Amino acid sequence: MKRIVVLISGNGSNLQALIDSVAAGVLDVEIVAVVSNKADAYGLTRAQAAGIPTEILDLGEVLADGGSRDGFDVELAGMIASYQPDLIVLAGWMLILGEGFLDRFPDRAINLHPAMPGAFPGTDAIRRAHEAFQRGEIKRTGVMIHRVVPEVDAGPVVTMEPVPIFPEDSLEELEERVHLVEHNLIVAAVDLLLGDYED
Ligand code: GRF
Repeated sequence: MKRIVVLISGNGSNLQALIDSVAAGVLDVEIVAVVSNKADAYGLTRAQAAGIPTEILDLGEVLADGGSRDGFDVELAGMIASYQPDLIVLAGWMLILGEGFLDRFPDRAINLHPAMPGAFPGTDAIRRAHEAFQRGEIKRTGVMIHRVVPEVDAGPVVTMEPVPIFPEDSLEELEERVHLVEHNLIVAAVDLLLGDYED
């Protein structure tokens, strides 16, 4: 069975979508580890509840111990490599990964971005899309999953889906609609890249 490692920084609802799809037999992969850069990420609790091994590597602690940003990337890559993943899924991972990481896993990491390609890179993408809609600058938003490159929320697109915005939408309503699409699209992307349709 194909092996994935999931990287998170917080709530982990996208991780939960993957866990649920694996449990339901919809996604035929094994989540071999969940790695967080935050010790208090709720996604770690979700992973533990599903019996998935967890790891924590905190950038602040690495730097406080005299390490470098590149050293963090190299250490993270080594930690993940020990699980021999076929695919690394960044699902709400809030740090840029540099060459110390990507050199070890060229083309093997994907990231989820709650906006369309090229739109609203960085944090708060849904809020910024909501504001842009209210200013009449955009008509819709979306979700994309892309290969990870050393640039925030950029890289070759694996799959994407537009998400409508309605004039009466509150930010919370738009967030909920985007998250629902994310939860489906992340499962679809992993299936697209690792699914075995031979049998
Ligand atoms: C998602 O909206 C993801 O696209 C963004 O951060 C959020 C993480 O959500 N980068 P969760 O931790 O999976 O619940």
